[in-house]
Amino acid sequence: MRVIRSVRSIQQFIKKAKLAGKTVGFVPTMGALHDGHRSLLRRCRRENDIVVLSVFVNPGQFGPKEDFAKYPRREQTDKKLAKKEKVDIMFLPSVKEMYPGGYLTYIDVEKMTRVLCGKSRPGHFKGVTTVVGKLLNIVMPDTLYLGQKDAQQAAALTRMTRDLNFPVIVKICPTVREADGLAMSSRNQYLTERARGEAAVLYRSLKEGRQSVIAGNHSVTAIICKIRSRITRESSGRIDYVECVDAGTVMPLKKIQGKTMIALAVWFGKTRLIDNIIVHA
Ligand code: PAF
Repeated sequence: MRVIRSVRSIQQFIKKAKLAGKTVGFVPTMGALHDGHRSLLRRCRRENDIVVLSVFVNPGQFGPKEDFAKYPRREQTDKKLAKKEKVDIMFLPSVKEMYPGGYLTYIDVEKMTRVLCGKSRPGHFKGVTTVVGKLLNIVMPDTLYLGQKDAQQAAALTRMTRDLNFPVIVKICPTVREADGLAMSSRNQYLTERARGEAAVLYRSLKEGRQSVIAGNHSVTAIICKIRSRITRESSGRIDYVECVDAGTVMPLKKIQGKTMIALAVWFGKTRLIDNIIVHA
């Protein structure tokens, strides 16, 4: 595995690989790699000649009161995991390499980034789309692999690649869960033991919501109410939102129909967890 830190070097490497007819798959991350990332890397490995993993804690997607400084950085353990998963290139740029002085250009996917997490994290998705747009221009992959856990991010990035004609296929891979159903996330390690136990209610409540839709309940209010009351009953979590949205556009629905995503964000102490489930109504 080669560790590359400069934009110029990785672009040279990728250009050569492409001239040699190799396919390039790309998994962008902020590090603190876990089994969710591992499943993206495995799929990427199966489907491409060259696997590129980026690890970059992107300051542009953290709000002023968010956890940028404290976000876990685990370069050595990430490298070990990447080697095990047969990554070819680990791209580890510095903030200066990605945002040199005088930086002024941003990508903003409108509308769909203003709902759900966009309400409580203004500017977050602009940071995500900008950095991933830059990474796509740097890595020039044939295929980009993203996780379904960050469904709004995946939807916005898919929209961006279509709207701006990035020549890349976006593949969204299933959420990987702990044994009790909690979606894997680098932020789970912030949870206290008590909160970690309680957080399993998120997936339990989403499954209950989905069951209710399958049983014929298509009322958005009723489904949201059911999920909210279960979370409140079984945990000390503070609900940011529970919403039923169109799975493609992530825009809120008045009535549950078609491919619907039930999505939620809940605070446990200072840690905000997100999760979602898809149901066809
Ligand atoms: O999901 C993440 O880890 C980040 O938002 C991403 C896509 C790597 C952009 O910084």
